[in-house]
Amino acid sequence: MSHAVDADKLHEAIEQKKARIGVVGLGYVGLPLTRAFLEAGFHCLGFDLDSHKIEQLEAGQSYIKHIESDWITRQVRDGSFQVTSDMQRLAEADVILICVPTPLGEDREPDLSFVEGTTRSIAESLRPGQLIVLESTTYPGTTREILLPILEQGGLKAGTDFYLAYSPEREDPGNPDFSTPRIPKVVGGIEETSLRLADALYSQVVVETVTVSSCEIAEACKILENTYRSVNIAMVNELKMLFQRMEIDIWEVIEAASTKPFGFQPFYPGPGLGGHCIPIDPFYLSWLARRYQMPTRFIELAGDVNSSMPAHVVKRLEEALRASGKQLAGSRVGILGVAYKPNVDDPRESPAFKLMELLGAAGVELSYNDPHIPVLPTMRSFQVPQLTSEELTPEYLSSLDCLLIVTDHDAYDWELVAEHAPLIVDTRNALGGIPAQEKIWKA
Ligand SMILES: NC(=O)c1ccc[n+]([C@@H]2O[C@H](COP(=O)([O-])OP(=O)(O)OC[C@H]3O[C@@H](n4cnc5c(N)ncnc54)[C@H](O)[C@@H]3O)[C@@H](O)[C@H]2O)c1
Repeated sequence: MSHAVDADKLHEAIEQKKARIGVVGLGYVGLPLTRAFLEAGFHCLGFDLDSHKIEQLEAGQSYIKHIESDWITRQVRDGSFQVTSDMQRLAEADVILICVPTPLGEDREPDLSFVEGTTRSIAESLRPGQLIVLESTTYPGTTREILLPILEQGGLKAGTDFYLAYSPEREDPGNPDFSTPRIPKVVGGIEETSLRLADALYSQVVVETVTVSSCEIAEACKILENTYRSVNIAMVNELKMLFQRMEIDIWEVIEAASTKPFGFQPFYPGPGLGGHCIPIDPFYLSWLARRYQMPTRFIELAGDVNSSMPAHVVKRLEEALRASGKQLAGSRVGILGVAYKPNVDDPRESPAFKLMELLGAAGVELSYNDPHIPVLPTMRSFQVPQLTSEELTPEYLSSLDCLLIVTDHDAYDWELVAEHAPLIVDTRNALGGIPAQEKIWKA
């Protein structure tokens, strides 16, 4: 069969929703992406090396708060969604979407071991006519320099035998306004046929596709988006510290500035960066920049400012306690909100852990509440105390010396909090709507 026929057959299968979609990595990105394809009428085959996740999905249980277990049960039961840890089944998929982690190594260098491992598994059973798309966030050049040679090792050629593209995930977990299908998707191909097929694929499931001229443009686009956030958040974090000294409320300033109808986009200060993207992705670019003998000063500076936030919060907490005749050592501090952002159950890179580490080292007696995280997880890069979430009752709040607001989940009753906690350090302006009280310290 000629190669053009293979590409046309895949194109037709995509348009008729008969192409079988394989998703590798069923985490915060892969599972919602799978849902988008299932909802559009495709059959999906989900792969994950974590056998616990596979067991949970097979039993119809969700491990991501905003994906309902009932929905998984229905999809698994009617056979449209199959899940497996058996990578040999990759050959069954017509399209393979890679959504595995891209963390940083010990020296803040890119750790592409998950992407490489997945690509090797795909290469083992690669067959003509398959389309492979990398979705994991990474530095420009990864698809061409890392994936392409591994996939071509067996003799098949990209663009003629199989197809390869990059399309960055823009998932914003827990955002009710922007679920996966509502977010435009940037798509870059390794060559033209790959781009055409990847564009056809995503056009079936998302509101808009944005094709760009190469994988490198699409890769750089994702890093630009995340660096933009990191730098702007660092700027407001620095201004927050300055304005605090000047007794100017940064949140009120941002609210006022946001009324400008052009040229200003609000970013908000906080206790430090969290999540899998903003604290990590920009360093993929600074690592690459060294190859080009180019410093990335904005990225480094933003990283420095943002990572100094937990220490700033601890200083503020110490001041607040001192003002009420107490000291850090021996005081009872409750952390409110441990997830890295509101209304999600994702604790990754949350500044709450750095704060706990610093406070624990200062001799603070710690407890916490987070309705989305009932038990503190063990973390690779932090010493996390073994704690379970306290119930947020008037008794608990009044038993504390200070409550430290880290994440402003919608589930919280701020009036209850403001009424019963004796002293509050608020890193999110969560109590901004509550009349100013001496016991509330913004940090
Ligand atoms: N979480 C987000 O909000 C978000 C947003 C945009 C982009 N991203 C990017 O998407 C990628 C995935 O992130 P995530 O948050 O979904 O991670 P995650 O840790 O939630 O999920 C990744 C999954 O991949 C599995 N896995 C790892 N190696 C595997 C392999 N070789 N084969 C099969 N499965 C494997 C893991 O067990 C895990 O379940 C990362 O590059 C991340 O930067 C994440």
